Amino acid sequence: MLQYQKVVIIGGSSGIGLETAKQVIALGADVIIASRSEDKLQKAKEELGSRAAVYTLDTTQEQQVQSFFETVGQFDHLVVSAAETSGGSFLQTDTTQARQLFENKFWGQYYAAKYGAPKISANGSITLFSGVVAYKAMIGSATLGAVNAAVANLGQTLALELAPIRVNIISPGIIDTPSRSKMTEEARNDFYAKVASKLPVKRTGTAEDVAQSVLYLIQNGFVTGTVLHVEGGHILT
Ligand SMILES: NC(=O)c1ccc[n+]([C@@H]2O[C@H](COP(=O)([O-])OP(=O)(O)OC[C@H]3O[C@@H](n4cnc5c(N)ncnc54)[C@H](OP(=O)(O)O)[C@@H]3O)[C@@H](O)[C@H]2O)c1
Repeated sequence: MLQYQKVVIIGGSSGIGLETAKQVIALGADVIIASRSEDKLQKAKEELGSRAAVYTLDTTQEQQVQSFFETVGQFDHLVVSAAETSGGSFLQTDTTQARQLFENKFWGQYYAAKYGAPKISANGSITLFSGVVAYKAMIGSATLGAVNAAVANLGQTLALELAPIRVNIISPGIIDTPSRSKMTEEARNDFYAKVASKLPVKRTGTAEDVAQSVLYLIQNGFVTGTVLHVEGGHILT
């Protein structure tokens, strides 16, 4: 149970982070969610109710991350699901876009761990987000794969350096969340159907699938430095 515990979820206004916030609240915790868009945060707050507080935060801005944690104060668990990702042909992708991916998904999580850790209770935890393309090479995912691998390695080293705080990493596979809302519905459905047909589980993942795994990592005091693959057997295919 997470009764009376305080959980900070950066990226908690959408997808996996929002679902994690719901599940954490159901177990009795208070939640702080943070992301860039006020609009998304307000909608999430309406769904989550009075146990949730919301903060506007851009994790690419180091100073903002630092002052965010000063405002939040002491807490128990940090989950960083914040990311905006992109893909594309290695040769045709502008290097600026590639660097932005590192800024957003790698450095965002780095700053969150750096400034969040000193405020986390000794029996608390940090959960970072990697992704399947770090473990299964896919055309169009050269930079994202490198970012995800870097996050996993960062998390495993932090499990040693920040101990006794536990640090774990989730590596989701293809999960149906608003992260692909820029695709047309038809293209998205085609993509999901194609992926599902290749996976041993014959379906894509849901935010609930991944949130359950975050809850496991938060609650199991004997798990640290683990990369938990939640991807329906994707890396076996
Ligand atoms: N969905 C998948 O198939 C999949 C696959 C592999 C890995 N993952 C990873 O799983 C994690 C969660 O993904 P998701 O599918 O739940 O994505 P999502 O639904 O798009 O949610 C991403 C969240 O991050 C926030 N965010 C993005 N950039 C931010 C920034 N710079 N500062 C603060 N907040 C930021 C977004 O809100 P704002 O726009 O308001 O900032 C949103 O709340 C990510 O690390 C993603 O890369 C997902």
